[in-house]
Amino acid sequence: MLPLVVKRIESQSAGILSIELGDPDGVPLPPWEAGAHIDVQLVTRQQRQYSLCGDPADRGTYRIAVLREEYSRGASMYIHEYLREGRTVHASAPRNLFPIAPADEYLLLAAGIGITPILAMANELERRGATWSMNYAIRDGADLPFRADLDALGQKVTINSPDRAGRLDLESYLAEPRPGVAVYTCGPARFTDAVLEAMREWPRGSLHLERFEPKPAVVRANEPFTVRVEGTDVAVEVPADRSMLAALNSARVPVAGSCLRGICGSCAVRVVDGKAEHRDSLTSDEDSTTMYPCVSRALTPELVIAAPE
Ligand code: FES
Repeated sequence: MLPLVVKRIESQSAGILSIELGDPDGVPLPPWEAGAHIDVQLVTRQQRQYSLCGDPADRGTYRIAVLREEYSRGASMYIHEYLREGRTVHASAPRNLFPIAPADEYLLLAAGIGITPILAMANELERRGATWSMNYAIRDGADLPFRADLDALGQKVTINSPDRAGRLDLESYLAEPRPGVAVYTCGPARFTDAVLEAMREWPRGSLHLERFEPKPAVVRANEPFTVRVEGTDVAVEVPADRSMLAALNSARVPVAGSCLRGICGSCAVRVVDGKAEHRDSLTSDEDSTTMYPCVSRALTPELVIAAPE
């Protein structure tokens, strides 16, 4: 964790603050790419993931944005009520689970606070000279967060609010599958689920989405299983009432965890034998050999994972 000082807090809209963090001594920060997030640890000991929404070329500042949540689990309320410029927070180095993949054209779809990674992507795609457009769904166009940043991106950005371009009909906008076009989306679950549904006929791999909340999942009853660590004699029993991550940590296998809800990616391990039952919100390919043991389990009585680095 890096100790970072709060350099600037700015109100972006009625419920959204942007926060700029920097090294206390002005040392350049670890680099990042559009789509990356940092884990921020507060004095409350809570840890939350926030997408970086500033300029990756600015090595002196990380900019994040925090929505005041109606049913805050504490972090959002603390940040809005108590965090002040000059205070110190601790943050991880950036990690990118939502990178820009090669494509002929990019459709960026954001809603609400989901604008944060999408804004960084739009700036990056513009810098690259890529073909892209963005639709941003927001309740009130008069209370638009990141107005200056969005205005600077010009005509490629459409604001879908009742007082601007109106509601975006995702079903008709995405009705026609377009091979070679990549869709990146981030926002509340009902928005990302609607994008997912509208793209059911699109080629596999066209949709890239980032969730703030775990996706709804129908899961089978937990079964106990065994995890072995490749190249060692470590064999860990995972009982039905315990997560694989907790069992690994109890056996002193050093796998980090953060969200414990299958959305941040910090606990990723690589499966080298056996089959994982993916219960996270990050995996789109059921055959993926990357698994997130905070929530995911095994479909086979035994899993072998690569030794964590
Ligand atoms: S701890 Fe966040 S995905 Fe596992």
